[in-house]
Amino acid sequence: MLAIIEKLPRINLGLYPTPLVEAPHLSSVLGGPRIFIKRDDLSGLALGGNKCRKLEFALGKAKEEGNTAVISAASSQSNWCLQLATAARKVGMKPAFIFLKGTHTESQGNLLLHNILDSTFKILEISDMRERAGTAVTEAMNTLAEDMRAEGYSPCIMPTGTPTAPSAILGSAGWVNAADELISQLEQQHIEAQYVVLANGGGGTQAGLELGSKYLKASYKIIGISILSSTTDAKSSVLESFHATSKFLNLGTAITANELDIPDIYVGDGYGIPTREGIDAIKLVAQTEGIFLDPVYTGKAMAGLIDLIRKGRFKPTDTVVFIHTGGTPALFAYHKELTR
Ligand SMILES: Cc1ncc(COP(=O)(O)O)c(C=O)c1O
Repeated sequence: MLAIIEKLPRINLGLYPTPLVEAPHLSSVLGGPRIFIKRDDLSGLALGGNKCRKLEFALGKAKEEGNTAVISAASSQSNWCLQLATAARKVGMKPAFIFLKGTHTESQGNLLLHNILDSTFKILEISDMRERAGTAVTEAMNTLAEDMRAEGYSPCIMPTGTPTAPSAILGSAGWVNAADELISQLEQQHIEAQYVVLANGGGGTQAGLELGSKYLKASYKIIGISILSSTTDAKSSVLESFHATSKFLNLGTAITANELDIPDIYVGDGYGIPTREGIDAIKLVAQTEGIFLDPVYTGKAMAGLIDLIRKGRFKPTDTVVFIHTGGTPALFAYHKELTR
């Protein structure tokens, strides 16, 4: 771990390093390249996922500051909110959320798990995820914070969609650490990877991975498959997050939009709306490797990888690492789309 990251307040929530495993049957069905999957879905918190690395630092800080409750806002099937709720419970904090309505508000998937965790939540009649950092959502989180203060809690607000929020910067620092972990694993397992592919939502994960990889001079290229925003918007979020995190960690590392690769053609009809290709990708990975992806992030990211393979983006001799960033509980909320 980088010395500067070692000094940050942190709570241990996950089981690291997460495994880096080869996916030979998937690779053979697709006619190459060699594919490895970094199993951050096995990170050990809740039912796994990329947020665990973020929360070790973001919640570590909130706890150190004496907060007794956490508040955040995202879609009703948000993996971030589920992992935050689980982590909060683990360290004795009360979780509370503002959920954007989206399409899956029945007590299934992540919402079912919130019921088990007894998270407090309110669902707002807003379904566009790009509004998660907007005024209505911010006001709703502030009102929730007042209510919680009245109940005797000391709440900390962790917004989403705001790359420069302290919790977002600490979250990206967790993914700087992931780059360090991945580079060591590649070395130990004698793997020379040319590409790393992952889902890009708010961009904090990719930003941290890009920063850690560039700072540590990794030789692979990173492709972030957007599942939410246009390439232009996704790049600007990653740039903002990258530079804020680099400054915070004092790494003196910069990046330009041209160095980022974030295709947006796999989003489909929008955030949280599965694509045919994404569902096919979920089925293919389950049926070849026995690994379950998710309908909102990793299914679409894998559909992107498969399309790039078919379009000849990689040589058959290349090695690609796909990062499984989790999200599998949402499969149960999307049972209708998956069985149609
Ligand atoms: C399963 C999963 N994968 C990927 C992402 C994308 O992470 P980021 O928002 O940091 O781009 C998320 C974010 O919610 C997620 O839940």
